[in-house]
Amino acid sequence: MRGGNHSVVSEFVLVGLTSSLEMQLVLFLVFSVFYIAGILGNLLIVLTVISDSHLHSPMYFLLANLSFIDMWVSSSAAPKMMSDLFKEGKVISFRGCITQMFFIHITGGTEMVLLIVMALDRYVAICRPLHYLTIMNFRTCISLLVAAWTIGIIHSLIQLVFVVNLPFCGPNEVDSFYCDLPRFIRLACTDTYRLELMVTANSGLISLGTFFILIISYIFILLTVWQHSSSGLSKALSTLSAHVTVVVLFFGPCIFVYLWPFPTVPVDKFLAIFYVIITPFLNPAIYTLRNKEMKVAMRRLLSEILSFRKLF
Ligand SMILES: *[C@@H]1O[C@H](CO)[C@@H](O)[C@H](O)[C@H]1NC(C)=O
Repeated sequence: MRGGNHSVVSEFVLVGLTSSLEMQLVLFLVFSVFYIAGILGNLLIVLTVISDSHLHSPMYFLLANLSFIDMWVSSSAAPKMMSDLFKEGKVISFRGCITQMFFIHITGGTEMVLLIVMALDRYVAICRPLHYLTIMNFRTCISLLVAAWTIGIIHSLIQLVFVVNLPFCGPNEVDSFYCDLPRFIRLACTDTYRLELMVTANSGLISLGTFFILIISYIFILLTVWQHSSSGLSKALSTLSAHVTVVVLFFGPCIFVYLWPFPTVPVDKFLAIFYVIITPFLNPAIYTLRNKEMKVAMRRLLSEILSFRKLF
């Protein structure tokens, strides 16, 4: 029993996205393809960057770290959702629900900070090219990564400390395909107005704030490049347009989910698909398919693996 005497709910029911069997089949196929392709793509990036010494630079290390986090982002909700799609009772235990929210916010928060770090890396590389390797040295990179994970963990812990002892006395249907704070809080048998405000202030403002920091840093980079040479502008534009695409796809839904004030319109659960499944899949595609060095390195790695297998 949790949260005192009135807590009678020990598990929650995830309503899911649809009740139609055909739609469930379509969703299952689409999600499996995105999820598996995302995991394989991100794994390939991590292995390529680690194994290829040509790619041992801050930009690629950060990219590999982004891929590493993306694997966790998509794994925090997608496997459970896919195994639930055809089940009659899509239940999740109280502990499971808390654990899921904990992971979603650690990985999501860390990913947001990492995207800022990546923008900083691009700023130094483009605007201070001569000092790039002294500024973005190995120690700075590691410190920035530690900072990203620390902020992610604190962001997640702060919110969960407030909800872990909430009393639940009856309603236990989470109208979504995974547990997340806004809908979880609304099921509690208490006045949740201040808690909802806390989530909006924490998750909502972090999403919105990070989004603006990133957009402003991209504009700043472009302006700096433009002042120095107009020929460098098109190269910077093509690098940054990839970043902007990821940022809009990831933050648009997040901002909507945490800042949308009308819970009666269930658009947010469909938008959540974007940051749970689509963005983790798109990140490797966007960041690497446009990058020649990365493509060459991947081809090298794959051919090495293939020739290695022929030895046996
Ligand atoms: C993350 O970056 C650090 C250095 O910046 C690197 O040593 C490490 O291998 C990277 N992690 C992954 C999973 O790529």
